[in-house]
Amino acid sequence: MSKRWFSEHRSDPWRRKARQEGYRARSAFKLKEIQEKFNPIRHGDAVLDVGCAPGGWSQVACELVGREGLVVGVDLQATSPIDGAHFIVGDIQDEMIQDATREAFNGRVINTVISDISPDISGRYDIDQAVSIDLVTMVCNFSLPLLNPGGAFITKVFQGPGLDALVRALKRRFSKVHRFSPISSRNASSEIYLVCKNLKPHHNGLIQTVGDEINDALSKEGILDEGNEEEDIEVKTGFSVHRRD
Ligand SMILES: C[S@@+](CC[C@H](N)C(=O)[O-])C[C@H]1O[C@@H](n2cnc3c(N)ncnc32)[C@H](O)[C@@H]1O
Repeated sequence: MSKRWFSEHRSDPWRRKARQEGYRARSAFKLKEIQEKFNPIRHGDAVLDVGCAPGGWSQVACELVGREGLVVGVDLQATSPIDGAHFIVGDIQDEMIQDATREAFNGRVINTVISDISPDISGRYDIDQAVSIDLVTMVCNFSLPLLNPGGAFITKVFQGPGLDALVRALKRRFSKVHRFSPISSRNASSEIYLVCKNLKPHHNGLIQTVGDEINDALSKEGILDEGNEEEDIEVKTGFSVHRRD
């Protein structure tokens, strides 16, 4: 652990504030800022939280939906229980985990999907950014068909190749798509949040998935490398690695 990392964490006011107010993660304040500005989560909503551990966003979502609401969270890591939430441990790309997630809603329509999903940071931004786009795409492909028309979708994504194509794909599906940088994000952060509101009723009739649309756009721009044999870094992602060189 570097000295810089240690001093940044020790002096992080959002981390302190989270501890004082009983939130498990500083990221809780990012969702609070999003809620204050865009109001995507309503009382009584059923909310899917993808990449939910340690549970800061789920805590905020539970407060907002109240007792009539439901929050279902999925993460590779276990999340300690929260009253009003149901947690599933596993990979959102795994079909069994997807089935368990659908079942957890017990026939209830999903009103809002929130996702703060992040890759395991490798330290190489081009790789981490490509995996971030890939994860968000997977979340879209799985969750948007389950989302009620009129519903909202919020996701974190790392800025870089594929982001504009992702925004275009989301604009075809939602009436409003905002790019938002919460002040509680670290200054140096390259993450951004997409806040999408009012899922259009015809979205399930679109022929291409969000993933297909992004793949096409990256291929056209010449930045989707379809199987580079020289690439020696293995990345768990549905896309090949995007490279600009
Ligand atoms: C920044 S953390 C989320 C923090 C959370 N919003 C909170 O407030 O506590 C990102 C999470 O995404 C999860 N994640 C990454 N890839 C995933 C996958 N394929 N399936 C499920 N969760 C995943 C990680 O395990 C990690 O816990």
